[in-house]
Amino acid sequence: MKKTKKEFKVDERLKHIAFIMDGNGRWAKKRMLPRSVGHSFGVKSMEKTLNSCFKMGIEAVTVYAFSTENWTRPKQEVDSIIKLLREYIVDAKKHENVRYVFLGDKSILDEDLRNEMLKLEQDTKCLKNLLNIAFNYGGRAEIVKACNSLIENGLPITEEGISKNLYTSHVQDPDLIVRTGGEYRLSNFLMWQSAYSEIYVTDVLWPDFNEEELIKAIESFYRRKRRFGGLNKDEE
Ligand code: FPP
Repeated sequence: MKKTKKEFKVDERLKHIAFIMDGNGRWAKKRMLPRSVGHSFGVKSMEKTLNSCFKMGIEAVTVYAFSTENWTRPKQEVDSIIKLLREYIVDAKKHENVRYVFLGDKSILDEDLRNEMLKLEQDTKCLKNLLNIAFNYGGRAEIVKACNSLIENGLPITEEGISKNLYTSHVQDPDLIVRTGGEYRLSNFLMWQSAYSEIYVTDVLWPDFNEEELIKAIESFYRRKRRFGGLNKDEE
């Protein structure tokens, strides 16, 4: 890991990073703006963060854009996030070398949106840098879905079987989960996949998150000793 900002690179210990992009609403409120404006600035922050991650050599990024619980928010806010998703898909192809995968239940989304999502996934399937966008995603529902799929296929419920039937079957579990906005919880995000993820929480609100904050999160990750339930060589 090199420390100069320009050349900051990760090594093989950090391949997948996931973000809980919290704090858009508070960011907007502080400026007396509608929450939707906070989300819109949240997308800008997401863009910058993604570029930084891929530039640093991170192979996979997952973002929590909309949870199954977020439907309970005021309709105007929900509509504004869906609009941002639509716009994001239109712009997505301008990113070179990014593969998009949507995590979550697409079935209740409008058919045209669902088709756009599927098309983007298909068109970018062979590209190198992976971006998973969790949209209408819930971690518990995902595990239930995986179990049901094993049962329907007459297969035993095993850890490997569940992992293979999650939305994330194409990617290794996240090494690091970063949550902005200061709350110490996972909010139904990657419940299965986070079993051994390192978690980093910052008070910074998502629209203010930037490369400097990302480097702080990564440096914190590298200071941790990951044991995966065992002991490291120097502790035996
Ligand atoms: C949490 O902030 C954030 C969300 C519920 C939505 C996050 C969405 C985006 C950043 C944009 C979506 C991206 C795409 C590509 C569609 P909050 O509203 O709960 O903030 P608060 O805790 O301050 O109220």
